Amino acid sequence: MYLFKRKEELERHLTTARNEGKHIGFVPTMGALHQGHISLINAAKENSDLVVCSIFVNPTQFNDPKDFEKYPVTIDQDVQMLTEAGCDVLFLPSVQEMYPDGLTAKMHYDFGSLETVLEGAARPGHFQGVGQVVHRLLTLVQPDKLFMGQKDLQQCLVINRLLKIIQSHVELVMCPTVRGNDGLAMSSRNLRLNATERINALHLYKGLSEIKRQYQKENLKTLKENAVKELTANGFEVDYVELISILEDGSVIFPENAGVTPLYAVVAAKEVSSGVRLIDNMLL
Ligand code: PAF
Repeated sequence: MYLFKRKEELERHLTTARNEGKHIGFVPTMGALHQGHISLINAAKENSDLVVCSIFVNPTQFNDPKDFEKYPVTIDQDVQMLTEAGCDVLFLPSVQEMYPDGLTAKMHYDFGSLETVLEGAARPGHFQGVGQVVHRLLTLVQPDKLFMGQKDLQQCLVINRLLKIIQSHVELVMCPTVRGNDGLAMSSRNLRLNATERINALHLYKGLSEIKRQYQKENLKTLKENAVKELTANGFEVDYVELISILEDGSVIFPENAGVTPLYAVVAAKEVSSGVRLIDNMLL
């Protein structure tokens, strides 16, 4: 696997590959890799000739500075996992390399209501930061396909919108969430949970599974309230439990108000004893 820290080195390598007619698959990450990321690398390998992964903990997408400081960094292990998975290129830039003119945003993207609901509401500015970095990475890598995980469903919707805004022809491939045997969605933030907290975190999956089991029979409002109650009783501070649908233009609607069938159950909650905020979702 080639490892590049400089934009110019990466661009030179990829220009050669592109000139050889190679199709490039791209997996952007913030490191602390787990099997969820590796499933994205595998999907990229199946669907492209050359796989590029980036590891960059992007400061502009953290609305909570403490969350940024505590974000797990496991670079040696990441390099090993990517090598074993058969990734071709790792891009590992510094903050200076990605933001040579400083962290103040140069662009503002119109993500519409995606920025005011769910993660958008809970983490002001987060999606602008994601937009800034993914736009820069796409300009450098110029992939044919971009692979991202369903676990960050709203991020996928935002990136789809970004691709339209920047008139990019890159195809976004959303890959299914990878779960542990117990059902817990793989997340880099799980590394910050001790054994007891990790077991407790399973309530997120249980809550979503219960909604999936019941949503055709029960009143949606009651289902959500029950899930919030259950999570709160088990040591969570709940940001939201929602049932959502997605319109053709990629915006999110809340079927409870619109009288349509929900498509996904989504949840975000902080596991209080660890202080770790987790998100998850389930296709209904
Ligand atoms: O999902 C992530 O890890 C990040 O939000 C991304 C897409 C790599 C941008 O920093």
